[in-house]
Amino acid sequence: MDVRLDGRVAIITGASKGLGFAMAKEFSASGANVAILARSPDALDAAVAEAQKTASGKVAGFACDVSQADQIEKTFADVVKTFGKVDILINNAGMSRAMPSDKITDEIWQEDLDLKLFAAIRLSRLCWPGMKDRKWGRIINVLNSGAKAPRANGAPTAVSRAAGMALMKVLSNEGAPHGILVNGMLVGQIVSDQIARRYETERPNMTFEEFVAKAGAGIPVGRMGKAEEFAAMACLLCSDLGGFTTGTAINMDGGATPVV
Ligand SMILES: NC(=O)c1ccc[n+]([C@@H]2O[C@H](COP(=O)([O-])OP(=O)(O)OC[C@H]3O[C@@H](n4cnc5c(N)ncnc54)[C@H](OP(=O)(O)O)[C@@H]3O)[C@@H](O)[C@H]2O)c1
Repeated sequence: MDVRLDGRVAIITGASKGLGFAMAKEFSASGANVAILARSPDALDAAVAEAQKTASGKVAGFACDVSQADQIEKTFADVVKTFGKVDILINNAGMSRAMPSDKITDEIWQEDLDLKLFAAIRLSRLCWPGMKDRKWGRIINVLNSGAKAPRANGAPTAVSRAAGMALMKVLSNEGAPHGILVNGMLVGQIVSDQIARRYETERPNMTFEEFVAKAGAGIPVGRMGKAEEFAAMACLLCSDLGGFTTGTAINMDGGATPVV
C-alpha cells in the first residue's frame, strides 16, 4: 500500500513533540508540506530540523499558543502565506488535566476548553472555506479515551474531549458532501513526552523503560502504543485511500477502552 500526501498542505498543532511530531515526520516523508505549531520556539526549531531529514515535502515551524484566538488567526494567515492553502488540519495540541470535579474552577474549565475545544473550532472554521472550494479536506481531532468512557476524576479533559468528538461528528456531516472528511482519534496510552513528564512527576523507583512496561502490562495488547503507530493511522486517514472514512472516532488504545 502506497500512502502518499504529495501536494497536500497540513497544519499539525502541538507538533514539536510526541504524537504531533511523529505525524509531522510521517506526513512530510509522505510528500505533504507541513506546518508545525507549538509554543516553544526552541523545540519548534529542533522539530523542523529533525523532520526535514526525512521529508519529501517542506516543513516549517510556527510559534502559536492555540488556546489564544488572536494567535490562531495570525498563524493561519502566516501558514497560508507560506504554503498557499491548508488541506489537512490535525487538532492535536493538548495536555493531561484530570481531577475531582469539585476542585475545578471556572478558570480551569475555560483553559481546558480553550486549548482542547475552541482551538479545534477556530482552526476548522478558518480551514473550511478553502477546503470547500477545493472539494477536498481532512480534519482529525486528537482526543482521549475519556471522550467515550468518562471516569471519576476524569474532568475537565473527558468533558472537553467529548465535546471535541461531538464537534467532529457535526463537521463530518456538514463536510462529507464537499469532500471534507472529519474523524477523531482517541488516545489511550502512547509513549511520548507527556508520559515522560508523568514519570518525572511520579518519580517511581524504577527506570523509564520499566515504568512504561508496567503501565503497558495493564493494556490488553500488553504494552503502551508507539507514536509511529499513531502517525501511520493518521496518515492513512488523511490520504486519498482514507476517502471513505469519516465521522468515526477510532480507539488508539491497544484495546483498553471498555466501549467501541
Ligand atoms: N500520549 C498519551 O498517552 C496521551 C493520552 C491521552 C491523550 N493524549 C493527547 O494526545 C495529544 C498529543 O499528546 P502527546 O502525548 O504527544 O503530548 P506531548 O508529548 O506533551 O506534546 C504536546 C505538544 O503540544 C504542544 N502544545 C502544548 N500546549 C500547546 C498550546 N497551548 N499551543 C500549541 N501547542 C501546544 C507542545 O509544545 P509546547 O509546550 O512548546 O507548546 C508539544 O509539542 C494531546 O492532545 C494529548 O492530550 C495523549
